[in-house]
Amino acid sequence: VVSVTAVDTSVVRIDGWPDEVVGNGHEVPVYGGGSIPYAYLDNAASTPPLRAVVRAVNDFLPWYSSVHRGAGYKSRVSTAAYEEARERARDFVNAPDSHVVVFIKNTTEGINRLAALAEERGATVFVSIMEHHANLLPWRRLTRQVVYFGADEFGAVDEDDLRRKLSDHPTGPKIVAVAGAYNVSGYAPPLDRLARLCHEHGAEILVDAAQLAPHRPIDMSGRPGEEIDYLIFSGHKVYAPFGSGVMVAPRSALSSVSPALVGGGIVDLVTLDEVVWNGLPDREEAGTPNVVGAVALGAALIRLQELRRDGLLDQESALTDYLVKGLLSVPNLQLLGPRAAVDRVGVASFVIDGVPHGLVAAVLSYEHGIGIRTGCFCAHPGVLHLLQLPIAEADEGRSRMRRHDHVGLPGAARASLGVQNTRAEVDRLVRALKELVGSGPRASYRIDPSTGDYSPSNWEEALPLGL
Ligand SMILES: Cc1ncc(COP(=O)(O)O)c(C=O)c1O
Repeated sequence: VVSVTAVDTSVVRIDGWPDEVVGNGHEVPVYGGGSIPYAYLDNAASTPPLRAVVRAVNDFLPWYSSVHRGAGYKSRVSTAAYEEARERARDFVNAPDSHVVVFIKNTTEGINRLAALAEERGATVFVSIMEHHANLLPWRRLTRQVVYFGADEFGAVDEDDLRRKLSDHPTGPKIVAVAGAYNVSGYAPPLDRLARLCHEHGAEILVDAAQLAPHRPIDMSGRPGEEIDYLIFSGHKVYAPFGSGVMVAPRSALSSVSPALVGGGIVDLVTLDEVVWNGLPDREEAGTPNVVGAVALGAALIRLQELRRDGLLDQESALTDYLVKGLLSVPNLQLLGPRAAVDRVGVASFVIDGVPHGLVAAVLSYEHGIGIRTGCFCAHPGVLHLLQLPIAEADEGRSRMRRHDHVGLPGAARASLGVQNTRAEVDRLVRALKELVGSGPRASYRIDPSTGDYSPSNWEEALPLGL
C-alpha cells in the first residue's frame, strides 16, 4: 500500500503541457480497427523532443560547422553555441567553478568513464542494490573493489547499512554511486543527507541523475558538506533525444588521470614519443563532438527551467499522485516501491496478480494505444528485490534468464510521466487496466519465445517505414 500525499488540485495545475512536445497525440492503429491518439507513458525510458528543442536545432543547423579547430565564421558561431550549451548545463545543475562540464553520449558512457577514473585513483566504490545496470556494471567491470549497500523492501536506501559499510573502509579513496531517482520505483533518495553521510566518511558522492534531471532541480553546490561531487545525465531523458549527455566532475579528479579516450582535439603537442594533453574540458572530448546534440540539450534545459518557473514541479507531483491513486484503484494491482510518504518522481511500476507483465503492456499498446514499459527495466537485482519473490521462484527466473528463455520471466509494468501528460491519459490507463482485470484481453495473444513479447494472434503490424 502506498500512502499518497494529498495535492489540492484546485490550486495546482494537474494536466501537463501537451503542446510542448513534438508528435504528441499522433494517432496509432489499435486492435479491432481504427486508430486513436497515442498516450505515451514511457518517459522514464526516453522523452520526446520539446518543440523548443526542435526549433533551436532547426535555427542552428544552417550555422553548423566544426567547433574549436575551425577558423571560419560558422566555426566561431558553432563554437559559441556549443560552449553556451555547456554553460546551460552548468547552470542547470548549479555546478561549482571547481567542476568541469563534459559532453558525452549518455549516462551509460559517463559512468563507464568515471568508473575508469575511479579505478585509476584506486577507489572503493559503494553502490546500492537498486541501481540501474548503467550504475552497476561499469563499476563491476572497471573497478576492483565494489561494495553493495542495501535497500529496504520498498527500495529505499538503507542509510545505516551504507554508514556501516563506509565505516568498515576507513582508508583510501571512496565513491558512493547512487541514483538521484530510481527508474523502477520512482523513489528519489535524500541526496543532501546522503552527500553529508558520504563526506563525513571521507567518500565522494556520484549521482546518476538520469531520472532526476527530468523531474527535479539539481544543486551540485549544495550546503557545505552536502555538495555533489560527480553527476551524469542523458539528453534523451530531458526532451533532447539528439545523442548527447552531460558529465560533471571535479577538475582536480579529471586532470589527475589520463583522458578516457584519446585522439584528435585533446592535445597541445604530439611527437613520436611524447604527448601533452590540453586543458579541460577539451581533453575529455576527444574527436569531433556532437554539437547539434549539445545545442538541443542546452535548449531543453532552458525550456525545462521556464516550465519549472510556470509550476512544472507542482504539476508533476499532482499528476504523479493522480497516477498512483488511479493505479491503486485497480483490483489485484500491486505497486512496487516505497509505501511511506517519500519523495517519488513520476514513475510507477506495478504487477497485476495473474496477468503477466508483458501481457499487460501488450494489451495497453494493441488495444488502447498506450505506450508503457515492461520487464526488469535494466535493473534485475532491484526488480527482483522489489518483487519479494519466494526464493525458489526468483531462482527459477534467474535460471530462465541464464538460458535466454524469455517466457514467463519475473518483471513488472511501468508507467512514467513527462511534461506533456494529462489526467485524461492517466484515466485511459486506469480504465484499460480495470477492463483487463475485469474481463480479460479483447484479443487472444501469442508470445514470441525469442523476445517474450506478446502480440494479438491475428494481428498484422503495419509500421510506417521509410519515414
Ligand atoms: C536511473 C538510470 N540510470 C542510467 C540510465 C542509463 O541511461 P542511458 O541509457 O541514457 O545511458 C537509465 C536509463 O533508463 C536510468 O533510468
